[in-house]
Amino acid sequence: MKFQTATLFAVLPTTFAALPDVTAKPLPDGCSSYPAYNTDTGVAGPWNIQAFNTENIAIEGFTDTNIYSISIVNRKPTMRWGFITFPTRNDIAKTRIQCSDGSLQAYTDSELTDAGEPVNVQWLNLQLNPYPYDQSIMYKIDDGEPIKAFEHYIGDEKQDGVYLGGYDNSTAWGFKYEAVNAGSSGQDYYYVRLLGPNSADSSTGAPLQVNETRGFIKVAA
Ligand SMILES: *[C@@H]1O[C@H](CO)[C@@H](O)[C@H](O)[C@H]1NC(C)=O
Ligand SMILES: *[C@@H]1O[C@H](CO)[C@@H](O)[C@H](O)[C@H]1NC(C)=O
Repeated sequence: MKFQTATLFAVLPTTFAALPDVTAKPLPDGCSSYPAYNTDTGVAGPWNIQAFNTENIAIEGFTDTNIYSISIVNRKPTMRWGFITFPTRNDIAKTRIQCSDGSLQAYTDSELTDAGEPVNVQWLNLQLNPYPYDQSIMYKIDDGEPIKAFEHYIGDEKQDGVYLGGYDNSTAWGFKYEAVNAGSSGQDYYYVRLLGPNSADSSTGAPLQVNETRGFIKVAA
């Protein structure tokens, strides 16, 4: 077993780190499980969330950004929904996250003008896309699954911080490289989706997609 592990590492690129084998323990539902919880307002944060223990070490510690998808309604550009993403460089503007009314939220543009400019910044609820094979962190959707808070343990040792996950106590995420597109503010980025029991490609069985590596998402506070 040890020999096999060593052989595997020998063929991997040097920009790759192994995902630690952690046990995720769910924290109670509600915002009090998150850092910087204010008992008077019931709000935790704001803070950012960060890529942590990433296999792709080029993005280790990077904090969150977002993109949105555009649809044309009555010949006008409309913000259809959006996604929390991670950047390819860490020196660009980030998207603030908080927990309020029991839900994670992102502070971001919520609409487009007729000219397609993003406007009306507000706190928007974040949910997981309900499809198990594509559980990205989304805003402007109604029928998603809740994002949950977890502690990580390696053996008996509690790891620092609060981690994001979801159904079936999954806390590993896929980070998939995507080129610049219409809603991504001129930046290439990493799309994230929760990896769980049913996240593999249903036709090929591949656990990860092309240009996708694993990592955790931790509250940066
Ligand atoms: C998630 O973890 C908790 C606590 O360890 C456990 O009680 C629960 O059964 C787990 N849920 C699943 C779906 O494994
Ligand atoms: C993978 O990423 C490279 C750039 O690093 C890109 O050229 C290629 O199209 C991507 N492949 C897929 C399937 O997204």
